[in-house]
Amino acid sequence: MTSTGSTGRPSLLLTGIGELSTLDPELGLLHDAAVVVDGGRVAWAGPANRAPAADASHDVGGRAVIPGFVDSHSHLVFAGDRAEEFAARMTGTPYSAGGIRTTVAATRAATDEQLAANLARLVAEMQRQGTTTVEVKSGYGLTVHDEARSLAIARQVTEETTFLGAHVVPPEHADDPASYVDLVTGPMLEACAPHAKWVDVFCERGAFDEDQARAILLAGRAKGLEGRLHANQLGPGPGVGLACELGLAAVDHCTYLDDADVDALASSGTTATLLPGVEFSTRSPYPDARRLLDAGVHVALASDCNPGSCYTSSMPLCIALGVREMGMSPAEALAAATTGGARALRRTDVGHLGVGAVADLVVLDAPSYLHLAYRPGVPLVRDVLVRGRRSVL
Ligand code: NIG
Ligand code: FE
Repeated sequence: MTSTGSTGRPSLLLTGIGELSTLDPELGLLHDAAVVVDGGRVAWAGPANRAPAADASHDVGGRAVIPGFVDSHSHLVFAGDRAEEFAARMTGTPYSAGGIRTTVAATRAATDEQLAANLARLVAEMQRQGTTTVEVKSGYGLTVHDEARSLAIARQVTEETTFLGAHVVPPEHADDPASYVDLVTGPMLEACAPHAKWVDVFCERGAFDEDQARAILLAGRAKGLEGRLHANQLGPGPGVGLACELGLAAVDHCTYLDDADVDALASSGTTATLLPGVEFSTRSPYPDARRLLDAGVHVALASDCNPGSCYTSSMPLCIALGVREMGMSPAEALAAATTGGARALRRTDVGHLGVGAVADLVVLDAPSYLHLAYRPGVPLVRDVLVRGRRSVL
């Protein structure tokens, strides 16, 4: 293989891979492996002694290589932080949806440049921890103008943008929530749809109920936005059932589930996205990943990075929590953070290293992916390739 790819860039042979987690059903987990990257895609993966030639090569010195993480749930367009709220929580104040309004006020007051700079900082922070695909939601603007600009700014960094005008009812509509739902399903959706791939609703006590969520998700679908949902985070509720009924790509949080919810998830194909950083940061019970996996539910792990309920951008932390607190094996947690996240975004081109996949690769400073959970809190990401290009860490 000496040809150059469709981008005109030289092909690259990554060799000396002590352990390669391809997350590809055919290739599986390989030792003493190599990968050829060409034109920003995986052109070949297999045993090092059978690797084809390439224009250039790079030896990773026996380290482990995994696909870049697919973080399918984050809220990165905001201003300010809520460290004081976190401190109060740690001394007994419970988390509630109402804290979102603090960030809404700060976000409305920020310039586009400030929002874009904060977003870029957080995306870079994610990439340094191995995340190469990220979904970003609006939801801290809650006016037509502020939601549309939030999404336009998010679109600068990712295709996976989500309209979350239905995050919480803003103070100016507090006396008449129905008027806010009309705004979200009307002029706000109209202004936001061109910048968004997805529509989302926070379906929870203190935010939006089942009927409101259904109306917003269907309005979004009519405008070409597929749905995802925040549900069953703070207590049992109708959100998971609604997500399955509507065939949404994903329903996120899933902390409080009854048997009917688990059955609905198992038979619908909707991905249950677990966000253990939230339970960590709100000192709440973790969702039961084991129960979901045993029932045959597709499970993803994501960060939910946001200034309120969970201000971590670290997928390795989510993996460690999934393993330590939620009954996942290390292999299940890695899959949930890669192919699981991709499935939650209805993507087949990321989250694995099969031939033809986007060449998003992470080189770990470790001999095995097991170290992601075995060595929690340790910065194990040595190198990241994004679309086949080595990013500067
Ligand atoms: O996913 N649950 C709703 N939204 C965020 C929290 C946002 C906030 O508290 O600012 C979440 O946890
Ligand atoms: Fe969220």
